[in-house]
Amino acid sequence: MSQTDIKNIVEKLKANGVGDVIKVLQSVQVQLGYIKYEHIKEIANLLKMPESKVFGIATYYSQFRFKPIAKYHIKICNGTSCHVNDKYYLLEEIERWIKLKNSDKKNNQYSYEIVDCLGVCAFSPALAVNDKIFTKVDMIKLKKILNMIENDNLEIELL
Ligand code: FES
Repeated sequence: MSQTDIKNIVEKLKANGVGDVIKVLQSVQVQLGYIKYEHIKEIANLLKMPESKVFGIATYYSQFRFKPIAKYHIKICNGTSCHVNDKYYLLEEIERWIKLKNSDKKNNQYSYEIVDCLGVCAFSPALAVNDKIFTKVDMIKLKKILNMIENDNLEIELL
């Protein structure tokens, strides 16, 4: 992502009445998948803010990532409802599976992160693969989800 791309994002948001650094950071992350230090510098420059302030905002919110994600990125919810219902089996299984798959293929196709809440607490435990959210995930459903990822097809609806 070039300086021009970031400038375009800032100008587009400003044109829509949004001069908010969080929105700019979100847009950069949506387009690139993560935020680099150079982006923070450029955003600070364009919004006429100290770099330290933009950096402070970016590092305060857990939604921002500073490392690239893989083709398939799994978000495991660790919010209260999911945490209570999960008993760690999802995280353990996903960690094991990703380690195995990435070492097999040596290309880091899969990544994961633990997030605070996916917004579907009533249907916990939940996880997301890229932007697709799966709810009431038990071991059987998790195996199906991991199968879908392996088969490169997230379009199948699970009950
Ligand atoms: S706590 Fe997991 S979706 Fe809210």
